Amino acid sequence: MFKNLRLEKEGTIAVLTIDRPDRLNAIDNATVEEIDSALTHIETDKDLRVLILTGAGDKAFVAGADIQELSERDRVNGRRDTRRRQEVYTRLEQLEIPSIAAINGFALGTGLELAMVCTFRIASTTAKLGQPEVKLGIIPGAGATQRLPKLVGQGPALEMILIGEPITAEHALKIGLVNRVVPPNELLAECRTMAQNLTSRPRLALQYGKEAVLRAGEGSLAEGLAHESYLHALACASDDKREGVAAFLEKRAPRFTGR
Ligand code: COA
Repeated sequence: MFKNLRLEKEGTIAVLTIDRPDRLNAIDNATVEEIDSALTHIETDKDLRVLILTGAGDKAFVAGADIQELSERDRVNGRRDTRRRQEVYTRLEQLEIPSIAAINGFALGTGLELAMVCTFRIASTTAKLGQPEVKLGIIPGAGATQRLPKLVGQGPALEMILIGEPITAEHALKIGLVNRVVPPNELLAECRTMAQNLTSRPRLALQYGKEAVLRAGEGSLAEGLAHESYLHALACASDDKREGVAAFLEKRAPRFTGR
């Protein structure tokens, strides 16, 4: 179905693999378009509950934008290509279902930007994460200047973007850039366990919780609180809220239906 991706379905979990191992899964414009199509497939399949995103091979998640293609980038297509990446990555960020980046190696440049639009990031101990664009005479263009400071704070974000040295998975864990770090041979199992946990939760509560958190800091506190209250009220109208509360009061496990 795709040239640079693999999209597999494991029950209610989608596994999307960036598959250009000879380029360390570097992302060119064609791959961006394929990611957009994969998102259409994922959004259309209402059985899916979680997305796991990873890179092929054991060396890289994604080693950045395709530098071959980047060599042709000028002012005009520099603007066009980055706007398109931002659009597709934001679409992934805003998926109704949660996503987990399984960072199995280098997550550099646009690769880290892709990981940052996932809801969770789990890295292998061998992963290296960074925004090395400065070494090529450019700055990030697919969201890092906005999302990295939100995740780790301005100081560490400026260091990563202006110095450009990749950091270890352990360091990324310390600054809150990844949620967990596990040995390489346990990475996918850990992601699947987290995915299974998520599938046991009520679908609408996950969707609304994610939407509310993504809104944080986008407007004023008053707007964010009003939106939170609106989504909370929507959740109160769900079958799963009735079931969750009843199950607690009746001291039994809930049977959520996703409605
Ligand atoms: N775009 C295109 N090709 C890339 C690439 C990228 N971002 N990153 C790696 N590759 C290619 C290499 O050119 C090489 O191809 P070759 O075998 O035809 O020579 C192959 O992938 C393997 O990479 P190599 O550099 O030999 O591996 P390494 O283990 O020595 O180094 C990295 C790994 C990730 C440190 C190094 O490849 C690198 O610095 N890549 C660029 C990272 C970057 O600046 N990304 C941001 C771009 S905005």
